[in-house]
Amino acid sequence: MQIQQNFSLKPYNTFGIDVKARYFSPFSNVEQLTQLSKGVLADTNHHSPFTIHNSPLTTFVLGGGSNILFTKDFDGLVLKNDIRGIEIVKEDNEHIYVRVGAGENWHQFVLFCIKNNWAGVENLSLIPGNVGASPMQNIGAYGVEIKEVFHELKAFHLHEKATYTFGLKDCQFGYRDSIFKNTYKDQFVITDVTYRLNKFPNYNTSYGAVEQELERMGVKQLSIAAISQAVINIRTSKLPDPAEIGNAGSFFKNPSISKEKFQDLTSNPDSYRGQNIVGYENMDGTVKLAAAWLIEQCGWKGFRRGDAGCHERQALVLVNYGNATGKEIYDLSEEIRQSVREKFGVELEREVNII
Ligand code: FAD
Ligand code: EPU
Repeated sequence: MQIQQNFSLKPYNTFGIDVKARYFSPFSNVEQLTQLSKGVLADTNHHSPFTIHNSPLTTFVLGGGSNILFTKDFDGLVLKNDIRGIEIVKEDNEHIYVRVGAGENWHQFVLFCIKNNWAGVENLSLIPGNVGASPMQNIGAYGVEIKEVFHELKAFHLHEKATYTFGLKDCQFGYRDSIFKNTYKDQFVITDVTYRLNKFPNYNTSYGAVEQELERMGVKQLSIAAISQAVINIRTSKLPDPAEIGNAGSFFKNPSISKEKFQDLTSNPDSYRGQNIVGYENMDGTVKLAAAWLIEQCGWKGFRRGDAGCHERQALVLVNYGNATGKEIYDLSEEIRQSVREKFGVELEREVNII
């Protein structure tokens, strides 16, 4: 365990933003994390988990860096979670419970499940990042969210220096949301996650694009491997690969509005006359809009200023073509929000964590 100083974070965020961390330390087990909090950087202020030379030090937990936008240098300690390991903890007739270290790569874990014929995560194939962020973000794609296969997680409290177990209800999962993004923001380091996978698959092909792709692939016998491949094909066809163009996936969440507001948007001649406005009714009667569609209608799709841009195939994805700064991308996102607000009266909320 080595603490680096003035450490470049460019290779550690998929936006490829060139910022530095004042301190950077990887850790590969809970003991090292505890040691970091107790020993290497002496704790003399209980309000701050870590201090150095007696002054409080802000900390940031880093996974794969695929859902963050650094807007400036980070004047604190970046804790890079490298906890590895996959083990079966129990099984019954229908399920297999698998505990996975937070530093394991998410997609590699998905492939491991498919190889073992454990179902439940196949629709979440090819999502970048690590296991530790999966409950933090309640990652979702193609009709499935992580909460559906979540059993429990362990998390280390940075102030108390103690490990707690969180079950499904404790995590308060929502759309791209959990208790770790609000009430417990910046307080816990998730160290491992236990998933409850299915021995008998319950295929989810409800997302139109998945069904179409399976048909195009000529799949006769549905399997988790086929669904995974269909999802991989769809994703590679429309989402930019961060290895080629810096990005963090969807920059905004898809907003939900009331049914009345939706009707107003589709029919009121004094409002927006877009009869093709894309909306899906939620369980609670509100309507979820496709943020990508709203952004495209405002003319941003394919827009580029310097190296900051809005992707030409997916308007919800902001991109760094090379040397954009985090601030340039953030400012672009602010302009996009403003124009969507002006044209549709709809507020876009950022999905990406701004640091
Ligand atoms: P990071 O970016 O490192 O961190 C994200 C947040 O989680 C930060 O606040 C960080 O502090 C916190 N965090 C990370 N690890 C821990 C931990 N162990 N303990 C406590 N806090 C932690 N997301 C989806 O949901 N669905 C998609 O379909 C999807 N598609 C994407 C496509 C592309 C091309 C890209 C680049 C991103 C996409 N994302 C998607 C977003 C991203 O992949 C997920 O949010 C992913 O879970 C982030 O994981 P990470 O390890 O990279 O997290
Ligand atoms: N659309 C446009 N213009 C575009 C792109 C899409 O009008 O440039 C329209 C499409 O025609 C479609 C609708 O928007 O009707 C939805 O598009 P898509 O299926 O691509 O999904 P999305 O809403 O843009 C969401 C998630 C993705 C996830 C996919 C698949 C959010 C914020 N994003 O995107 O997650 O992979 O659905 O389930 O919920 C992420 O979180 O980073 C992410 C990529």
